[in-house]
Amino acid sequence: MILRLKDIHISFTNAQNETFELLRGVNLDVETGKITALVGGNGTGKTTLFNIISGFEKNYTGIMLFEGKDICNASAHRISLMGIGRLFQNGQLMGGLTLMENMKLASNDSTGEKPFSSLIFPRKWKQSEAQKESQTRKILNRFFGKDNKYLDMLDEDAATFSYGEQRILSLCCLLMGGNRLLLLDEPTSGVNPLFIETTEQIIREMKEKEGLTVLLIEHNMHFVRKVADVCAYLDEGVIAKVGPTDEVLDDKNVRNSYLGL
Ligand SMILES: Nc1ncnc2c1ncn2[C@@H]1O[C@H](COP(=O)(O)OP(=O)(O)OP(=O)(O)O)[C@@H](O)[C@H]1O
Ligand SMILES: [Mg+2]
Repeated sequence: MILRLKDIHISFTNAQNETFELLRGVNLDVETGKITALVGGNGTGKTTLFNIISGFEKNYTGIMLFEGKDICNASAHRISLMGIGRLFQNGQLMGGLTLMENMKLASNDSTGEKPFSSLIFPRKWKQSEAQKESQTRKILNRFFGKDNKYLDMLDEDAATFSYGEQRILSLCCLLMGGNRLLLLDEPTSGVNPLFIETTEQIIREMKEKEGLTVLLIEHNMHFVRKVADVCAYLDEGVIAKVGPTDEVLDDKNVRNSYLGL
């Protein structure tokens, strides 16, 4: 198990100044090397849970262990350096930077952490830059084919890519290295059917070729059935059911309360 969530509670205050408890004791063990889907209705707290895990949301109670280490008091920056990468819901590439710069920036190695290393160790720094450039080309080759258009667009401002393209290229960024657990918030949203197949291939390879553990939020149940080994259903603030994907999605309560079947 790579990540353990124990008894996570969080409350918010709404516009009427009423306090409501959104997460009411979430317990979840995320199994190492597997793809786990977190499903549940709109507004049930899935993205909030990702914010808690990645250190953006601090007003919660409970226990979080990543690879056995307590990450409750760690900053978002520290958690990312520990190896937890994230695709944000509606998250895109960084405009104003080129596609290549986005890919290089996503590489979660320690060279970028020390700005002066480029001055003190110029050769090492250059080598690492060259490595990241060749890795970028390899990743794009692998998923979009040899001579694909993105290879010719590496120096274009990332903002020029369409929303769907930016989503899928953001997923590619997460393969630049340094991560062990990936949190993907709705990877297929805004992505066309052909690119959904590529998204599926990328996520599979994250697991099978890169040995990464993936926790993903999705509303596309067809996609969940295809990629996820394990499914966790969030309902009324708790993980109401967890297990093999088909078993959870075919469960009578899950079908009634979430899928409307
Ligand atoms: N900082 C906050 N202050 C007040 N309410 C909040 C805050 N953050 C989240 N919420 C509320 O918590 C609820 C859950 O939000 P969240 O984004 O986690 O849902 P979700 O399960 O990801 O939904 P969706 O499937 O639509 O993306 C929302 O109704 C939102 O209004
Ligand atoms: Mg969400």
